[in-house]
Amino acid sequence: MTTTSRLFQPMTLNGLTLANRIIIAPMCQYSATEGLAGDWHRMHLGKLGSNGAGLLIIEATGVSPEGRITPGCLGLWNDGQAEALRETIRATRTFGKTSFGIQLSHAGRKGSHDAPFNGGRRLPTGAGGWETPAPSAIAFQSSDANPPFAMSREDMDKVKDDFASAARRAVSIGIELIELHMAHGYLLHQFLSPLANQRTDSYGGTLENRMRFPLEVFRAVRENTPATLPVGIRISATDWVEGGWSESDTLALCRQLKTMGCDFFHVSSGGLSPDQKIPAAPGYQVAFAASVKKETGVPTIAVGLITEPAQAERILAEEDADLIAVGRRMLSEPHWPWRAAAELQGKIHVPAQYLRAVPGDQDIAIR
Ligand SMILES: Cc1cc2nc3c(=O)[nH]c(=O)nc-3n(C[C@H](O)[C@H](O)[C@H](O)COP(=O)(O)O)c2cc1C
Repeated sequence: MTTTSRLFQPMTLNGLTLANRIIIAPMCQYSATEGLAGDWHRMHLGKLGSNGAGLLIIEATGVSPEGRITPGCLGLWNDGQAEALRETIRATRTFGKTSFGIQLSHAGRKGSHDAPFNGGRRLPTGAGGWETPAPSAIAFQSSDANPPFAMSREDMDKVKDDFASAARRAVSIGIELIELHMAHGYLLHQFLSPLANQRTDSYGGTLENRMRFPLEVFRAVRENTPATLPVGIRISATDWVEGGWSESDTLALCRQLKTMGCDFFHVSSGGLSPDQKIPAAPGYQVAFAASVKKETGVPTIAVGLITEPAQAERILAEEDADLIAVGRRMLSEPHWPWRAAAELQGKIHVPAQYLRAVPGDQDIAIR
């Protein structure tokens, strides 16, 4: 049976061909010890990485200890972490057909926090926390007890090197795609937004200056990864705050990244300021993905309250995006891609052991 569903068409990003357009969004699990993937990741990634989605993007992974959001975040700043992650996903990669990408991240001023399920409080230095670097010494919340410190040129060079080293480690363990976290108020977004970046050197002030460091980091990662490996970014298209990072700034950044070999844009929003007013509703970020796709022609991922297969299909049919990322719904309904295949008459990879459970129609399954 052939399908006309767009969600179930393959998609090529640089040298990587995904079986379909379904992406499992990166989702922090706050369950690592010293940055090492362990039993929880084996269960979590094993479950989701065998559900037939085209791509799973592993959670925000710190490029250095101080680049983590919480002490429980995954890391790729040493070889032991790379080996633990390789071993954690080994079985899933044997039985599943989902490609594995990873999101490389530095939290900047949003680091040094407890996991949300432990209250999400800021951890003081010396009590499990650390000094947080940022473009400027401006705290996320004015109530933050220990504000970040403004990074020196040396600090910035180290972060750039850390991103490049983490990317090399990811490649060395067979990760097939790299996403740089430039969204949700983390370090690279902090450089972009005039609300967090008030530097007076060549990395602050004008839009061109604020984009400079994130672009340097992108270049370093691009240069340290094979030319055929897809490297892209996650971007917050707007801060949702008057005077903050805007949609037109996003388009300027994406135009520039396109010339530097950026293979995809994953379009999210917000996260930089506690003053944000997000009009959350089904598909509320899709319009941003559509403008990035239209402006650049680069493969674009839509995300945010996309929960129904028909909704995902419509976004692709209207050419508002090329790929669809699903976050929370993938946690509550880990076999969402099976349901999507059933509803859209798509073909999906199902491990042989589970074939008898495919809902209703064996024709949707491939082994
Ligand atoms: C538990 C959880 C962890 C998340 N961690 C990350 C992350 O590591 N990196 C990131 O860019 N976004 C992260 N997000 C945001 C999701 O990737 C996604 O953009 C968001 O949940 C909206 O999509 P959804 O409505 O399909 O859930 C996280 C969301 C959740 C619920």
